[in-house]
Amino acid sequence: MGTHKLDSHTILYGVFGDPIRHSKSPIMLNRAFEAAGINAAYGAFHILPGTLKDAVAGIRALQFRGVNVTIPHKLEVMSYLDEIDEGAQVIGAVNTIVNEGGRLIGYNTDGIGYVRSLKEETSISLKGRKVLMVGAGGAARGVGYALAKEGAEHIYIANRTRGKADDLAHSMSSFCSASGIGLEDIAKVTGDVALIVNNTSVGMHPNVDEVPMDTSLIQADTVVSDLVYNPIITKFLQQARDLRGAVIHSGLGMFIYQGAYAFEYWTGQPAPIAAMRDVVERSFAEAAH
Ligand code: ATR
Repeated sequence: MGTHKLDSHTILYGVFGDPIRHSKSPIMLNRAFEAAGINAAYGAFHILPGTLKDAVAGIRALQFRGVNVTIPHKLEVMSYLDEIDEGAQVIGAVNTIVNEGGRLIGYNTDGIGYVRSLKEETSISLKGRKVLMVGAGGAARGVGYALAKEGAEHIYIANRTRGKADDLAHSMSSFCSASGIGLEDIAKVTGDVALIVNNTSVGMHPNVDEVPMDTSLIQADTVVSDLVYNPIITKFLQQARDLRGAVIHSGLGMFIYQGAYAFEYWTGQPAPIAAMRDVVERSFAEAAH
């Protein structure tokens, strides 16, 4: 890696979250700035509950060019911004702030990042196809919105708490056809879907032996995708690939591309994707040793 010189011209960026020390965003975005030859620095800020409003005022005062926002601040931050992009409004969450000369604009790059990585890594075409999403939380909202924009014909939403699946399907009805189903109904739709997405946290480190659904129901011609990226290949994806012959897509792609879109909104330049992916994969490999 080359030397990254910080000086009085350095443009500032960061990520706001609680917790934040596990975040891979700083290594990914600092590598991106370096690869693009941009004099910038990206830090991790531990923003405690009750201090988010002051932290956002700090973006203006310190003239940060951009900030990512993560758990648990994606919803509350919307009340402190000057403008919210339409997609972020529909999803009801902001993960990226752009500072346009003191005017703070909120975007959501999670869902569009997800779809961009899905298409680049699997070549799936969603137009007129049906999708099964497992999970109905915040992540599912962004992914559902992006899949609908991509032309998915119908989205089935299965969730442990059935009412939340129905609520999410209902709130998506203004822009797509969606329905909540019970976990026990998953078997009825798996033969009919082009894509299955795990939007739950099931299978995430340290619970690496858990899977969000019975993988024997997966058909070989289905693309199976997981938002979990720690581990990079979850047990769910492993079983889908090795036991069912499905094409798989890891959540690492969504993480990289949500950061890539943020980089592009901030700088107006194409993100150096390969360098970003490389540094994040290395970091996971080091953590495993
Ligand atoms: P996120 O913002 O990451 O989506 P969230 O909004 O808390 O987080 O949503 C978590 C999702 O994972 C929910 O769909 C949740 O199911 P419930 O609505 O029934 O809580 C799902 N989830 C989490 N742990 C789970 C588990 N052990 N089994 C099944 N579903 C689980």
